[in-house]
Amino acid sequence: MKATVTAHRDYTISKIDDRVYGAFLEHLGRAIYTGIYEPDHPTADANGMRGDVAKLVKDLNVPVVRYPGGNFVSAYNWEDGIGPRDQRPTRLDLAWHTSDSNAVGVHEFADWCETVGTEMMLAVNLGSRGVDEARSFLEYVNHPGGSYWSDLRIKNGRKEPWNVKMWCLGNEMDGPWQVGHKDAAEYGKLAANTARAMRMFDSKLELIVCGSSNSDMVSYPDWERIVLEHTYDHVDHISLHMYFANRDKNTANYLALNHKLDTYIQTVASTILQVKAKRKSKREVFISFDEWNVWYHSNKQDREILDGNSGWPHAPGLLEDIYNFEDVLMVGLILNTFIRRSDVVKIACIAQLVNVIAPIMTEKGGPAWAQTIYYPYYFASIFGRGTALNLLVNSPGYDSTHADNTPYVDVSGVHNEEDGTLAFFLVNRHASESISVDVSLQGFTAGAVIDHQIMTHNNLEAVNVARDQNAVAPRKGTGTSIADGTLTVSLPPYSYQMVRVKV
Ligand code: AHR
Repeated sequence: MKATVTAHRDYTISKIDDRVYGAFLEHLGRAIYTGIYEPDHPTADANGMRGDVAKLVKDLNVPVVRYPGGNFVSAYNWEDGIGPRDQRPTRLDLAWHTSDSNAVGVHEFADWCETVGTEMMLAVNLGSRGVDEARSFLEYVNHPGGSYWSDLRIKNGRKEPWNVKMWCLGNEMDGPWQVGHKDAAEYGKLAANTARAMRMFDSKLELIVCGSSNSDMVSYPDWERIVLEHTYDHVDHISLHMYFANRDKNTANYLALNHKLDTYIQTVASTILQVKAKRKSKREVFISFDEWNVWYHSNKQDREILDGNSGWPHAPGLLEDIYNFEDVLMVGLILNTFIRRSDVVKIACIAQLVNVIAPIMTEKGGPAWAQTIYYPYYFASIFGRGTALNLLVNSPGYDSTHADNTPYVDVSGVHNEEDGTLAFFLVNRHASESISVDVSLQGFTAGAVIDHQIMTHNNLEAVNVARDQNAVAPRKGTGTSIADGTLTVSLPPYSYQMVRVKV
C-alpha cells in the first residue's frame, strides 16, 4: 500500500503554542499523594516530592500544569492547603468520595512546578464558591505584598508572588456531576463577573471559561454559544475536554475517534466566530483543551470507591488506567490533531500526569515508570515545537463509525525554524498492511534523516508494569531514505513513528 504527503515550507497552519503539550494534576486518587508527593520515598527531596517522578516529568519538558482540579476544585477551599501542615484540616472530597489531608496545597505545588520547570495554571472554585474566593486566591498568589492575603502568603514562607497568568473559571460546570453545577446562562453570568473582578486586579491575566465536558453532552454546543455570549469580552480561551475509549474492542473504530475530536474543535471554533461576529468584536478567543486522554481501562474497578462503598479513603488508587500499545496509537492521533488545529487550540493538557489516567505510574515506596502513552507524548512535546505544516495527504482509507474514508495514514508535520528541522509524526491505522509513504519536501533543502523512532508491537494489549517497565518502548527505525527532495518512510501495520529531517 502507498500514500503520499506534500509538505511545503510556505503552506503552514500556525505557530504551535508550546502550551499544547501541557498536563494536569488533580487532588484525585494517587496523583498528588504517592504520585508527586511521598515524603517517605527514598527519592524524596526536602519538600517530600519524589525525585524519580520529577525526573520523568522533567524529561517531558511539560510547559504548563493545570491544578488542583478537575471535579475536585468545585468544592475546594484553597485556604485549607496553606499554613502549617499540622494545622491543615482533612476534608471530604465529594467529587471522588475520598478525603484529603491538604498536606499539599498551592505552596507545595508551586515549589514542585519550579523543580520540574513548568508553569502553573490554576483553577478557581465556581461550584460551591464564587467571585469572592477567586479574588482572594488571586491576591494571595499574585500580589507582591502589603495586603491581607499577600502578607499571609509571605508569612507562610513565600516572599515573591508567583505571577500565575492562566486561570480557569471553574471546571466542567455543564456536568450534573459537578458540585454547584449550573445551566449555561447562570454559569456564563458568574464566570463573567468573576473574570471582571479578576481583571480589575490584573487586566493581562489569561482567563479560561468552561466549555462542554465532552461533545456528547445534551447541552453541547448551545452551552458554548450561551456561555460565550456572556463572557466573550472577558476571557481568552474556552476549555474543552474529551476522553477516548475502546469499550467494544473495535480497533478500527477506536482509532478513528480523533475525527470526532476534530469535529468538536471545528464546531467550537465556529461558535467562537459566531459569537465574535454577533458582538462585532475584534477580540480573539481560543480553545484550551485542558483535559484529554484515553480513559476507560479502570472504570469498572473504580465503582466500589466512587459509589461510596469504601468510606472516605485518603489517596486510594483511582482512575489507574494501565495503558496498552493500542493506546500509543490513539494518543499519537490525538496529538496529531492538536498540531493540525494549532490555529485555534493554544493550550492542551493531557489528563492527567501521574497515576490518575497518566503517562507516569508509581508504586508507593517503589518505582516510577513510563506507561506506553508516555512516548508519543514525549516525542510531540520535545520535537513538536515550531510551525505546523498544512500537509496534503493522499492515503487509502476505511469506513468507521466516526467517519467515512478515515485515512490509514495519519500524519502531522512541524517545521522548527530555530534548529532547522522538520518532524513528522505518523500513525498507520492498518491492521495488517505496511504502507510506504513518500513525503515530498517542497521549499526545503532536505539534508539527512537525523532521527527515526518507531513503536510497534505484535500485541495491541501489551502494557508496561512495575516488573516489566519496557515491554512497550520506542526503538530506532530503519529504512527511511531521502532522494530528490522526497522522504520515504515505511510504516508497518499498527505503528507510530517520528521522523526528523535536517533542512
Ligand atoms: O480527569 C478526571 C476528571 O475528568 C476531572 O476531574 C473532570 O474534570 C473530568 O470529568
